Amino acid sequence: MTILVTGGAGYIGSHTCIELVKAGYDIVVADDFANSCMEAVRRTRKLAGVEFPFEKIDLTDYDATQKLFDKYQIDAVIHFAGLKAVGESGKIPLTYYHNNLDSTLSLLEAMKSHSVKNFIFSSSATVYGPEAPVPYNEATPVSRITSSPYGNTKLMIEYILKDEVKANPGFNAVLLRYFNPVGAHESGEIGENPNGIPNNLMPYVAQVAVGKLDMIHIFGNDYDTPDGTCLRDYIHVVDLAKGHVAALKKIKENCGLFVCNLGTGKGTSVLEMVKAFSKSCGKDLPYEFAPRREGDLPAFWADPAFAKEQLGWVAEKGIQEMCDDVWRWQSKNPAGFPQD
Ligand code: UFG
Repeated sequence: MTILVTGGAGYIGSHTCIELVKAGYDIVVADDFANSCMEAVRRTRKLAGVEFPFEKIDLTDYDATQKLFDKYQIDAVIHFAGLKAVGESGKIPLTYYHNNLDSTLSLLEAMKSHSVKNFIFSSSATVYGPEAPVPYNEATPVSRITSSPYGNTKLMIEYILKDEVKANPGFNAVLLRYFNPVGAHESGEIGENPNGIPNNLMPYVAQVAVGKLDMIHIFGNDYDTPDGTCLRDYIHVVDLAKGHVAALKKIKENCGLFVCNLGTGKGTSVLEMVKAFSKSCGKDLPYEFAPRREGDLPAFWADPAFAKEQLGWVAEKGIQEMCDDVWRWQSKNPAGFPQD
């Protein structure tokens, strides 16, 4: 079975490529390098032990996407490609809507004309919206709107896929709702490599640890949580990658629409995360409390029971392992991937 991995040079995509190869799948990787680079592909090939084909392609280009499907015999698509910075999406919403929606539509059109009927989509816990009770459960309806244009693109793509399943007999769409992916491959050869100053907690903390940034700013210490800082469900990227391999089993069962959380079921505070990372890097990391960040929810985590029941998948790696692996990646690659 050959899987097209879009965004396969990116953070979650690259780790998933390795797990797919391990599980015996053939892969074709497509990426436009908007937030990644060829060195990530080279290292992923090395870790996977396979020189899998790579295509540099902008998926919003419908003709180029059709040609990709002409060139390879694809059986399923795992669609990671997309813009993902929550804050940036509020500043350039049209770019986010255009990129994330057009690339998905272009893929779905190409799939239709090539009779490819299996699609796994990188969705997000953000689709539950601010009102959902925790832990987030798949039976909870999605929100009418999310807190960002980025989140809205996830919500809209979920609707597009639900409609396509209804209209196209035999079409399988798996919507995987990720919680907070962190961690890195245990080799320290690949990991998260954000452009510019990181927006997310883990890469920011890692860059303070390696001396690229001076100080961690903890956004809010007056939330109604045990230590006053926000709680999130951090999941190791390798566990998340394995969740995609498990989801392929559902595809083989012709699941139609299948929606599933990928999280651990545990909430960890920002302060706990900073302390765990300090242990990994062997020094107390400097932090200060800062005002709350607009749009942040106090606390959410997954109900992981459905994933266990349906996919036989459970996240195995804990917070300390996540921090140890990020530190290995960051300390081996203080400037991220070397530029080509
Ligand atoms: N935080 C800080 N300081 C920082 C960065 C983050 O204190 O420098 C805090 C945030 O306030 C939040 C927590 O760390 O409480 C986690 O923040 P992240 O930015 O790492 O992650 P979010 O939970 O905000 O966002 C994540 C994903 C999004 C997704 C969202 C909702 O990055 O893709 O969860 O599911 F939309």
